[in-house]
Amino acid sequence: MSEIVVRRLLIDLDTPPERHWCGGDAFRTAWFNALSMSFPQGEQFFIDSVRAGVQTLPEAERVRFEPAIKGFIGQEATHRRIHALFNAHLAAQGLVNHWEARAQRRIRTLEGADVRAAIGATAATEHLTAIMAEHLLSDGSALQGAPARWVTLWRWHASEETEHRATAFDLYRALGGNEEWRLRLFRLVTWHFITDALRQTVNNLWHDGSFWRAGTWVSGWRFLLGREGLLRTMTGPWRRYRRADFHPSQQDESRAVSWLRDNASQFEPVARPTSSTP
Ligand SMILES: [Fe+2]
Ligand SMILES: [Fe+2]
Repeated sequence: MSEIVVRRLLIDLDTPPERHWCGGDAFRTAWFNALSMSFPQGEQFFIDSVRAGVQTLPEAERVRFEPAIKGFIGQEATHRRIHALFNAHLAAQGLVNHWEARAQRRIRTLEGADVRAAIGATAATEHLTAIMAEHLLSDGSALQGAPARWVTLWRWHASEETEHRATAFDLYRALGGNEEWRLRLFRLVTWHFITDALRQTVNNLWHDGSFWRAGTWVSGWRFLLGREGLLRTMTGPWRRYRRADFHPSQQDESRAVSWLRDNASQFEPVARPTSSTP
């Protein structure tokens, strides 16, 4: 995949989702709701990071990166806007977004720091989102029973995460970011991501009244730690980031390419195709 295309999603975002929209499953719904809650703040941070980072490159390098950065920013801006609309439905259901405030506090600690810290944190998060995207596109059970429009929303996002998975990583390298900090930030980001995602999921279950139901946790165990569970299947791909010769392009993109090809009627391109690699 060599293009970063910004797409307008053609799904109904006005009709509110069911309380347990993910196939009636409280845990999976709470988990995906938690992730959605993190996107408006998180993706704005990625946008700000790469925008600031590319400005510090020498002129020729900056020109080389510009198409990929433009595509990256266009996609993330669209994701955050769409998820903000979805999150408004969640707020109306009584769910409370605590992840956003925690992320805001952490982002503030990077103010005044070397821009490569923010780019390195972005690159690390982009690896986590790219491997979760792979899981979403390959495992039908994660979104089993969800209405078609929400399956489209998550798989569209997953496919675009796959498309732009190398942008922040390449920028970190071009800015001379070192290995020690790349790996240190990856550990830190992973820790915060897992704990934030779980805390917000639990909080969502609490607010929707499913916390004390045994079935919630049976599903949670299966979804995260079962044979095809998310955390289990992510361990190998997670480790790959620690290799000195790692590059995001090593991750197979065929599922994202197929999904975008087979679901072209669900969206329309809003920007000219651009190259994803400088
Ligand atoms: Fe995104
Ligand atoms: Fe992304």
